[in-house]
Amino acid sequence: MSALLAALRATVLAYAVGAAVLFRQLLRRLRGGFRPPELRPQPGRVAIVTGGTDGIGRATATQLAALGMGVVIAANDEAKGQEVAAQIRAETENENVRFLPLDLASLASVRKFARDFLSLGLPLHALVNNAGVMLAAPGATPDGFEPHLGVNFLGHFLLTRLLLGRLRASASRGRRSRVVTLASATHYVGRIRPEDVGRGSPAPPAHAAYARSKLALVLFARRLQRLLAARGDPVTSGVADPGVADTALFRNAGWGLRAARALLGGAAFKTPEEGAWTSVLLAAAPAPPCGYVVDEAPATPLALTGEAGLQDAVWAAAERAVGGAGEEEAWPEPPPGWSHAQEDAETEPRPREPRPREPRPRP
Ligand SMILES: NC(=O)c1ccc[n+]([C@@H]2O[C@H](COP(=O)([O-])OP(=O)(O)OC[C@H]3O[C@@H](n4cnc5c(N)ncnc54)[C@H](OP(=O)(O)O)[C@@H]3O)[C@@H](O)[C@H]2O)c1
Repeated sequence: MSALLAALRATVLAYAVGAAVLFRQLLRRLRGGFRPPELRPQPGRVAIVTGGTDGIGRATATQLAALGMGVVIAANDEAKGQEVAAQIRAETENENVRFLPLDLASLASVRKFARDFLSLGLPLHALVNNAGVMLAAPGATPDGFEPHLGVNFLGHFLLTRLLLGRLRASASRGRRSRVVTLASATHYVGRIRPEDVGRGSPAPPAHAAYARSKLALVLFARRLQRLLAARGDPVTSGVADPGVADTALFRNAGWGLRAARALLGGAAFKTPEEGAWTSVLLAAAPAPPCGYVVDEAPATPLALTGEAGLQDAVWAAAERAVGGAGEEEAWPEPPPGWSHAQEDAETEPRPREPRPREPRPRP
């Protein structure tokens, strides 16, 4: 009975959040609609888009390719991936679009993808952690994790850690590399305990599991930004909330959502292209808005996601779950007095401490 009530609660909360977003989008349409970000061409820059074979990810990959970026589409269906990459190359007249297989449900596949990408010798300026599953069938990933947690959160957690060195090395002065993580308004109703981030913890109902994975992603992205800023790294971590877009993500949704789709259709739902604009802005704008970004503008995420203690505990649990990310460097703690207000204000890399000069030997 309590399991039934928990499932009902999670479903009602998810629908309430979805309805609020659809209402906001409907109002926005009535006031003129959404506008694409205006961005300069980005030749020479390279992005990885996970889940770039469908929906918002495919639109993100297409828009970045249209800006002249090299794009690596990372997803788990090889035939579909090669076809989509070829279509985007033809559509954008950009030859630098390729597919590399990545199954975020498998930590071994994530490690292999990172090795394969790094061995190409390409720079990396934007990692778009876009792929996701929603209302996945109950069960476990090959590594034994609840599927939403494993695919949406832990796969991206490990991927980001493995590629951070390349992102850092690819940044140039005044132009930081970017980690863009796709969240969802459902994170506002998510619940997480660090001990849930591991194998064999009891699986919540599907709506709650999706919301929990998105809450974990926001905690991760904000902690990453906190550490990057404290270390003065030339990389930023931002969260893109795409709103509600009409994509295959809802393939497993119930009658309520299907009815809303049939009734409101294009009036309230974003197209996948509109849903991609926030990700594209964060990946390619010279000084994008920081923090949590919705409809191309900064917004306030759930207050809980700013709690350093919870961020640290979820990060540590994720690190244990993935078995180490192979990063040799330690992450320093932010200096005393550092706050998330600073996180949002940071737009340029902090200058590194000048090194003491060796005295020159006299001739
Ligand atoms: N659509 C919305 O309204 C909405 C709202 C809020 C947040 N979001 C977020 O936006 C992101 C994109 O969603 P979407 O609506 O574009 O969904 P979508 O159309 O279902 O696309 C999801 C993409 O992720 C890929 N993917 C799924 N499982 C994967 C795995 N194990 N390994 C690698 N790739 C995998 C899919 O590949 P296959 O097609 O081969 O499975 C597909 O390319 C997700 O993170 C989602 O949570 C979407």
